[in-house]
Formats: sequence, C-alpha cells, structure tokens
Amino acid sequence: MDAMDHGLSAIPRALATEAVHAGREDLAGLGLHAPPLDLSTTYPSYDARAEAARIDEFATTGARLDGPPVYARLDNPTVARFEDALARLEGAEAAVAFASGMAALTAVLLARASQGLRHVVAVRPLYGCSDHLLDAGLLGTEVTWTDPAGVTDALRPDTCLVVVESPANPTLAEADIRALAHSCGSVPLLVDNTFATPVLQRPVEQGARIVLHSATKYLGGHGDVMGGVVACDEEFARTLRQIRFATGGVLHPLAGYLLLRGLSTLPVRVRAASSTAAELVRRLATDPRIARVHYPRIGGAMIAFEVYGDPHDVIAGVRLITPAVSLGSVDTLIQHPASISHRIVAEGDRRSAGVSDRLLRMSVGLEDVEDLWRDLTQALSAPPAGSLRAAAPAASGRPVAMPRPAGR
Ligand SMILES: Cc1ncc(COP(=O)(O)O)c(C=O)c1O
Repeated sequence: MDAMDHGLSAIPRALATEAVHAGREDLAGLGLHAPPLDLSTTYPSYDARAEAARIDEFATTGARLDGPPVYARLDNPTVARFEDALARLEGAEAAVAFASGMAALTAVLLARASQGLRHVVAVRPLYGCSDHLLDAGLLGTEVTWTDPAGVTDALRPDTCLVVVESPANPTLAEADIRALAHSCGSVPLLVDNTFATPVLQRPVEQGARIVLHSATKYLGGHGDVMGGVVACDEEFARTLRQIRFATGGVLHPLAGYLLLRGLSTLPVRVRAASSTAAELVRRLATDPRIARVHYPRIGGAMIAFEVYGDPHDVIAGVRLITPAVSLGSVDTLIQHPASISHRIVAEGDRRSAGVSDRLLRMSVGLEDVEDLWRDLTQALSAPPAGSLRAAAPAASGRPVAMPRPAGR
C-alpha cells in the first residue's frame, strides 16, 4: 500500500471506480494528476554492487524490482501502472504486459512448456494467429483440438495448458468457464478475454488461472496502440516477467500510458457499444438478407452474421463502417474472417470450427445506431433472385442462432 492512499486501495470498489483509479493511487502524493510517462531505456546507478544484487534477485525470483528498473527490458513504471490496473479489473493478483496479444500468448506457452510439458489442449475457434501458433507447433508445443465437452478426455500427463476464447473469435461461441476450469483439473486454464473484457466477464472468479488480452482491442479502445497482457497469480507472473526479460517482447511505455488511459473509459465504452450491438442484432435477426446472427448470451459489442449474398459485396459496400480487421475501437469495423482474421487457418479446420465463408464479423463502436443501421442495410446485397439457398452449416450449436422470419 502506498503511504498516500490512506488504505483506500484495500477497500473493494466497483469496476467503474477501479477503471479510473487503479494504478494511479500514488499520483496525488506525487503532486500529479496525469500518470507520468517514463521513456527511459536505462537507469543510472553509482552502486554496481547494489545493481548486481537486484539483478540476482530478479533472475532468481522474477519479482518486480524495488526502485527504478536497471534496464527497460526488466520493467517500466508506466507499464507497471497499466499492469496493476488491469490486474485489479480482472480480480487477479498480478498482470504482465507484452508488445502484443501474440507476444503475450507466446510468453505463456514458453512459460508452461519450459517446465518440460509440451502438450496443449485448445478449443476451436481461436483467433486465426493463435490457432496457427498452436497448430504449427512453432514453439515446440503439440496441440489437441477439441470442444469444451472433450477437454477432460483430451488431457494427457504432459498437458501443460488448456486454451479457450469465450466469446470466441469470430463465431462468438461461448464456453461455460466454470465447468471448463473444473474439467481441467490441475492443468491451468487460459481464457482469452479479449472480446468480453472484465466489464462483462472475470474468468479468474470462475476458476481460470490465466486471463489473456489482446490489449490492442478494447483495453486501448481507440485503434492506436498495440499490446497484450496476461492476468494471473503472482507466482506465474514471476515466470512471465523472466521470460519477457529474456525474450524481449516488452510493451512500449507510450503504449502502457495509452492503455492505462484506455482502461479509464473501458466500462462506459463497452456498455454503450454493447447496447448498440444488441439493437443491431435485433434488426439483423429479422432481415431477409441474413441467414444467421451470432451474439453471445453475455452480450458485448461484437456481432457476427452470415449473409445469403456475397459477403465481399458487404465489405465493398460499407461507407461509414470501416472495412478493416481488428476490433474494440470507438469506430465500427467489419471484416470477413475467412479472408482475413482466420485466413491462416486451414479451410477445413476453419469450416469445422463454424467459420463459414459467409460469415462477417463486426465490432460495433460508439456511433449512433441509426447511422450504423443505415450504412449496414445499404451495404447488404439483396438476396439474388431464386437463390434462397441454405446457409452454411450451423456453428456447433453454441452461438445464439437467430431464427429468420417464416417463409424467407
Ligand atoms: C481474441 C484475440 N486474441 C489474441 C489476438 C492477438 O492479439 P494482437 O493482434 O494484439 O497480437 C487477437 C487479435 O486479433 C484476438 O482477436
């Protein structure tokens, strides 16, 4: 506890309050309002013996250094503020930030596999590059793909990690995290919480040991910062810090600054965009040009839908909505997963995970719902005459399938 926070950080506070105060408790005592941005790559010390002792301490424990970092690859005070804030929002003991979501996943895999266990169980779909990293075994791991019900059977004595996204990219399939954590037994469950954010779901409270974010998305929230973060217990955080130091996937301090700022508006952004998304889902569900809408039970600002027409026409037709990969920004983005976010996944694997070629994924932003609807509806191509063909196969039954109106 900082001397100046008068013990207030120990009192449980609502998420909206944590979002604007966590990681900033010492600022008033420092005579500051905005958090300081420390861009130093190195830190002077006239006492090399003391520095040696601190380096030894970090190398053996992975605990955060007291006092200034020795070198920016060990730690950074601005990034540490973001880590502290995110850990609080996720209800975790600690968080460790990385250069991107993929750097964060890489560090988790290295941390787990370095303990000699190389088998990973993963639930499809995952974000395309996460799928690729596991499927190609780029880090020397071996993956077994399954659905949530198959996790227990897929576990082996050398299983080091179970990986799930919920809601999943891009189908928004949801897993029962509590049940999944139970199925994992002593094997840590990693939940990628990028789509839900801690505003809608806190996986640690449901038994997940590791929570991962592409901070590039909702945490930053403005499409101008790339980062990743892992929330977990302090013991695992220590291993992650040592791996980050040795492999160098650090988050830049300016990114840490922007992410901390992004967290302060996370609850209002997510709630506002989610209510617009829910309204768009209601309208899409009765639109004759839409074969199927996917929207998670927990809600959120991500929607996905399968069109009867050519999805490329929709991408080419939007004017207000930005046709771009990524998500979680203040503006609405739409993309075609089979062409972009999941292109790197083999076609058969993609389809069997429910990623139909007719699926579009939309990240709903903060624009007015009527403006979004007008743009979307003009971009949706009318159903070609006489071609009310069957939609692509349903996505494993977990996403919410909106019935289309009778006779259409
Ligand atoms: C769910 C999910 N996890 C991880 C990642 C990877 O994050 P990054 O692009 O920050 O490396 C993404 C990227 O789209 C994602 O959607």
